[in-house]
Amino acid sequence: MAKRTIVAMPGDGIGKVVLEQSIRLLNAAGFDADYVHADVGWECWCKEGNPLPQRTIDLLEKHKIGLFGAITSKPKDKAAAELAPELQNKGLVYYSPIVTMRQYFKMDICMRPCKTFKGNPLNFIRRTADGNFSEPMIDTMVFRQNTEGLYGGIEWNNAPDQVWDAMMTHKKFVDNFSMHPRNEVFISTRVLTKKYSERILRAAFDYAKKRGFKGITVCEKPNVIRETSGMILKLAQDIAKKDYPDLAVWDTNIDAQMMWLTKNPEDYNVIVATNMFADILSDGFAGLIGGLGFASSAQFGESGVAVFEPTHGSAPKYADYETPIVNPIAMFLSACQMLEYLGENDIAQKIEAAIAKVVEKGKVRTYDMMKMTGSPEVVKKGAASTIEMTDAVIAEL
Ligand code: NAI
Ligand code: MG
Repeated sequence: MAKRTIVAMPGDGIGKVVLEQSIRLLNAAGFDADYVHADVGWECWCKEGNPLPQRTIDLLEKHKIGLFGAITSKPKDKAAAELAPELQNKGLVYYSPIVTMRQYFKMDICMRPCKTFKGNPLNFIRRTADGNFSEPMIDTMVFRQNTEGLYGGIEWNNAPDQVWDAMMTHKKFVDNFSMHPRNEVFISTRVLTKKYSERILRAAFDYAKKRGFKGITVCEKPNVIRETSGMILKLAQDIAKKDYPDLAVWDTNIDAQMMWLTKNPEDYNVIVATNMFADILSDGFAGLIGGLGFASSAQFGESGVAVFEPTHGSAPKYADYETPIVNPIAMFLSACQMLEYLGENDIAQKIEAAIAKVVEKGKVRTYDMMKMTGSPEVVKKGAASTIEMTDAVIAEL
């Protein structure tokens, strides 16, 4: 097979160090690839007025596979204030480059795994009836519809006439909202399509089948949000009946699911939800398996472009440490998801097994795994640096 080229987008802050260390690990594990650097994030915004430059889009279009560190985002007004002087007052508006990238390349399917590593001191434990503790082994994949719903970006304040008039055709709007001044009404929409709902459901069914799980859980709120949540649940039931008769469809409500998170998280292996609910769910599950240092994600879709990234952000307060202290495992696991996507399952399993060994042995732990507050001193207090953690994983390969 021709050597692959991976678009490496370190972005901002700790994104730079975790991506660099992941490439070191991928090389050590025998993944044969070239990496091209691509600019993205805050520096691009400040200097060029665009956090996702066209040259980065072009590289992704050409090479299809991207590894992404993290970026810094700031609210609109703050972002405008930090633009280079020559770019100010030109009407430039900041949008998150990740959200833009997802929509531009129609990366509608997002997979966020949450898997317990034995021996991780951050694992969730539960008191049993006899007063002892149990530590559930969680193995959950959250399938997140990545491009629609509440994060679709279709929003208004002081809505234009056509929008206002359309809303006025709904009795509930007339009864409950129309008496407020228009500039005091704020609207964010939750638009779903059948096509992309079906795609996320089928991805989840296929995964459940491949892993030998008994079914999938659709986590929404169909009793209240009937048109969208109701649609996706019904669609799941119809698809299962027709094409996955051996798989069950369970449904939970997002609010109740968050409560059950600590009751029986090990019972949920495959969960599907729309954009925002899945964002909440995956952070909730991640909290049971070690938090942001362990939470990875894959996103891909019809365009063939796929991007793999940890779910954490740029953690600016740790960005400029002489010895980086953050946990690179979330980025490593994102790289494993990339390998699986590319069919390099052996290398992915090798890396995951090496991470599991390091965690289980417990000799090398980053500050978060030691429940320390991050500071430059943590290394002196026995925490492993980002580089030492990478060294340890490489040693176990
Ligand atoms: P964050 O994820 O950057 O950091 C939150 C806290 O989590 C940090 O202070 C740190 O204690 C911990 N943390 C994060 N990653 C860690 C790691 N690998 N190892 C150990 N500890 C880790 O989120 P925050 O502080 O809310 O946002 C910082 C910036 O990142 C913001 O500008 C935000 O917009 C952006 N962001 C970007 C994301 C992305 O690139 N996908 C996602 C989330 C936030
Ligand atoms: Mg999130």
